[in-house]
Amino acid sequence: ARLVVLISGRGRNLEAIMRAIDAGELDAEIVLVASNKPNARGLQTARLAGLPTVAISPREFADRESYDAALARRIAADNPDWVVLAGFMRVLSDSFVERFAGRIVNIHPSLLPKYKGLHTHDRALDAGDRDHGASVHFVTPTLDDGPVIRQGRITIRDGDTADTLADRIMDRIEQRLYAAALDDLISGRVVWRDDGVYRDGQRQ
Ligand code: GRF
Repeated sequence: ARLVVLISGRGRNLEAIMRAIDAGELDAEIVLVASNKPNARGLQTARLAGLPTVAISPREFADRESYDAALARRIAADNPDWVVLAGFMRVLSDSFVERFAGRIVNIHPSLLPKYKGLHTHDRALDAGDRDHGASVHFVTPTLDDGPVIRQGRITIRDGDTADTLADRIMDRIEQRLYAAALDDLISGRVVWRDDGVYRDGQRQ
């Protein structure tokens, strides 16, 4: 399967996907890594690995619609099967999401539907939650709202802070979750139909 991966930052999720492909655990090819941040560290990682990259800065565009249209055109030129948001810190417009409907996925550091949006670790701590984690989900026009494909869970410990939670979720969960979820999709084990997400033919 052809993947276009969108990043804004360090790209640890991107690296984990790259490793899974190299290890033969994921039958996919990253055909483009795109970023809204020309200096994103993940772009450099991708380049060093010989992957095609592009940075498209919102500063060069008048508004969100024209930016998203340019980004969508660039992505579509590479014919992706899946558009993979991996720490892409921009909200995508409805027209972008509709153009790649059902083929955009995102990783979010919470047990969705809890804590959509930012500051998920602080919010889990403030709520006194005992569990926390990360989710890979289909992207719909509403932020962090699409159906969940896979989740990973950790236990919150005494003394945890937003930083320790972010690190533990990255190390224990995010380093594996995205590749596993992409494998679910690419192998056809997980399918999104009108009435929900099915895993091995069972509604999940
Ligand atoms: C991850 O925690 C991801 O869940 C979140 O942003 C972070 C991205 O980190 N949405 P990286 O760029 O993959 O290192």
